[in-house]
Amino acid sequence: MNVNRRKRYSIKYNDHRILVIDFGSQYTQLLLRRIRELGVYSELCSWNISESQVFAFNPKGIILSGGPHSVNERHAPYIPEFFFQLGVPIFGICYGMQIMSLQLGGQVTHAIVQREFGCSQITILSENVLINDIYDCVDGVTGRLTLDVWMSHGDVITTVPKGFSIIGVNKYNQVAIMANEDRRLYGVQFHPEVTHTKKGKFILERFITCICRCQSSWKITNIINNVVMDIRMKVGKDKVVLGLSGGIDSLVTALLLRRAIGRQFICIFIDNGLLLNYEFNRIRDVCAKNYNLDVIYVSKEQQFLNALIGVVDPEEKRKVIGRVFTEVFEEQIRGLVGVKWLAQGTIYSDVIESGRTFSSGKNVIKSHHNVGGFFGIMGIRLLEPIRNLFKDEVRNIGVDLGLPYDIVYRYPFPGPGLAVRILGEVKKEYCDILRKVDFIFIEELKRDNLYYKVSQAFAVFLPIYSVGIQGDRRKYKWVIALRAVETVDFMTAHWVYLSYDFLNKVSNRIVNEVEEVSRVVYDISSKPPATIEWE
Ligand code: XMP
Repeated sequence: MNVNRRKRYSIKYNDHRILVIDFGSQYTQLLLRRIRELGVYSELCSWNISESQVFAFNPKGIILSGGPHSVNERHAPYIPEFFFQLGVPIFGICYGMQIMSLQLGGQVTHAIVQREFGCSQITILSENVLINDIYDCVDGVTGRLTLDVWMSHGDVITTVPKGFSIIGVNKYNQVAIMANEDRRLYGVQFHPEVTHTKKGKFILERFITCICRCQSSWKITNIINNVVMDIRMKVGKDKVVLGLSGGIDSLVTALLLRRAIGRQFICIFIDNGLLLNYEFNRIRDVCAKNYNLDVIYVSKEQQFLNALIGVVDPEEKRKVIGRVFTEVFEEQIRGLVGVKWLAQGTIYSDVIESGRTFSSGKNVIKSHHNVGGFFGIMGIRLLEPIRNLFKDEVRNIGVDLGLPYDIVYRYPFPGPGLAVRILGEVKKEYCDILRKVDFIFIEELKRDNLYYKVSQAFAVFLPIYSVGIQGDRRKYKWVIALRAVETVDFMTAHWVYLSYDFLNKVSNRIVNEVEEVSRVVYDISSKPPATIEWE
């Protein structure tokens, strides 16, 4: 790498970083997570990243992700040629390996019969630093070592490029692992980032620590110090305003700001009337008592509910809430003197999902608290101190900074709040019913030690009148659905097998204590095809 060129860029964390090139695999986020779990900082970038951006990032190694394309498609994404001149190790996964093979002179064809999707086994043919001593079984007949892996591919490499050796093959005797030791280029046909590849994390670790020689320095104390230094450098003596949403991301952002710039910032918490009461009160307590944060609490329930009159479409509801939020926030900011920065608790999955990874060039503000209306007009700059962190990293910081466990590990609550848990038009009456029901459900989950075993649980208000009997009279009242899911990443989720006894207890309490409800149902749909929220 050209040393003079490197000097032009400031290196933010340290030199031990891995760059992941995104070819569109559904497992790319997982790949990043795995690398960071190894204590090594990594970022995702688009495959058409520029040379200067790569120099700026200064990776010790590059991983090429899998992807849905076939390398022989006309507009298939490819590896920029300068990558091969960088002199850093490159590790191609699935599509990443196939495209590397093709670009370096190998041959790849479409496997009509021998496609592989799911668990599979590969046989190791020769030694290689990438997989030495990493195996699952020894083949009883051949005495060869085998690996249990997760495959998902339609193309196969028929000829490896010059200088490469075949290290492992699949059950059809096709290339499953290849390596060019001299140039430190490696490829695997399977997905080491997926847990079904039992030894996958060891293979990734081998690449990152032995081949790239990365040190494990992405640790919570270093992360906090880096973020704090970064905030100080950017903000200087300027004043900052932070939108507190009640979620862990903005709360951790507040604590980091506190550490970085003391009282040079102010938080604004807008009560839109669509919150769960106990959540709002808990956050207020924590902010005031434990951390002495300066928070302006703005109660605008009526303004939000008025704007939602007659709105039934879920996306329209989100838009209306976003618009009113912007108006209220703007009004508050105009009343503050000398604010130069708007801080947001944007995290890395928001960045990835909105296509704002550092090479994409987009810069969209987190949509569910979209404050873009005044941003720019008022010359306020955006500050996103935790934009490079994943949720579990944010939670770890929360724990490190002393946030109570129940706050750090509470269930996610959507930005538009109860509006997406009330089907159709939102009314105060429905919000109040939902708050009472949700409280009972959550209280019982906690009482039976189920709260932390479930990833997310909540109640949904169905605007349907259903018959019930009260005293000796038939009465028509509302229906409530309960939802509880287990998930790791919230992209897929399974409904939770809550016991009949538990459901019975919750249902009895709801119909007895919330007189507006006559019927309770339990949602047994998984995602996909259903989503976690009902709207
Ligand atoms: P879905 O319903 O998409 O939910 O399966 C996945 C996760 O995202 C949360 N969610 C939202 N969060 N604004 C948010 O801030 C929203 O509009 C929104 N919709 C869903 C949901 O609670 C779950 O954790």
